[in-house]
Amino acid sequence: MEVVIVPDAESGGELIAEAMAQLLRRKPDALLGVATGSTPLPVSEALAAKVRSGAVDVSRARIAQLDEYVGLPAEHPKSYRSVLTREVLEPLGIGMDAFMGPDGTAEDVQEACEAYDMALAEAGGVDLQLLGIGTDGHIGFNEPCSSLASRTRIKTLTEQTRWDNARFFDGDIDQVPHHVITQGIGTILQAWHLVLFATGEGKADAVAATVEGPVAAVCPASALQLHRHATVVVDEAAASELKLVDYFRHAFANKPDWPQI
Ligand code: GLP
Repeated sequence: MEVVIVPDAESGGELIAEAMAQLLRRKPDALLGVATGSTPLPVSEALAAKVRSGAVDVSRARIAQLDEYVGLPAEHPKSYRSVLTREVLEPLGIGMDAFMGPDGTAEDVQEACEAYDMALAEAGGVDLQLLGIGTDGHIGFNEPCSSLASRTRIKTLTEQTRWDNARFFDGDIDQVPHHVITQGIGTILQAWHLVLFATGEGKADAVAATVEGPVAAVCPASALQLHRHATVVVDEAAASELKLVDYFRHAFANKPDWPQI
């Protein structure tokens, strides 16, 4: 995998947004997989700025959701669908008709998961999937020891993840659902390009395990090592536990002049 060390979150956002823009220029109806959490915000801000300046046209772009809480109605302000509407769709001017996501309130959750997995494949697959990473190495909501071949399904959150996400629920862990729907690791690996973005010291151990540790379900993000086009974009703090930083910097600085990531 390629590891790109950027000075700060803003430049990481710009780099990833430019990769999305390049994709949309060659494939205007590309399916972009987006993630929630605070890390991806600089990406959507940078992409929205490109849309405003006319540098990229997203009028035919499609957006796919990575994961969702079970039991929160779609219009609940903390449902990931609502969060993505506010933080991605509205700033980009993309309507719900170009959006696909799992139904967190379905009576038959398993059926909804399978339907979403199938819908992604029928849509031609995700062209570029943006991922954050949990402090425990999760991607989407695939908690440690998730099957590396898993498909979209229901998962139970670890208490660590519920504590981490309580900040989005007024700091009240009791409001954080226990169950979620997430694209499986096998599903995520089917995207054409995976871009994992991590910032801050709190992610340094998880990033080191992802990039330099063994491929192991205990660190779900390490599955990226199996992907043919995975890019890990990290700021200095998130890169601080990596042993091969000098090589990663050298390789990126000397990269030939083809798409940056
Ligand atoms: C949640 C999401 C993940 C995200 C993670 C990290 O658990 N399901 O997709 O990567 O949060 O969030 P943050 O970027 O806010 O640290």
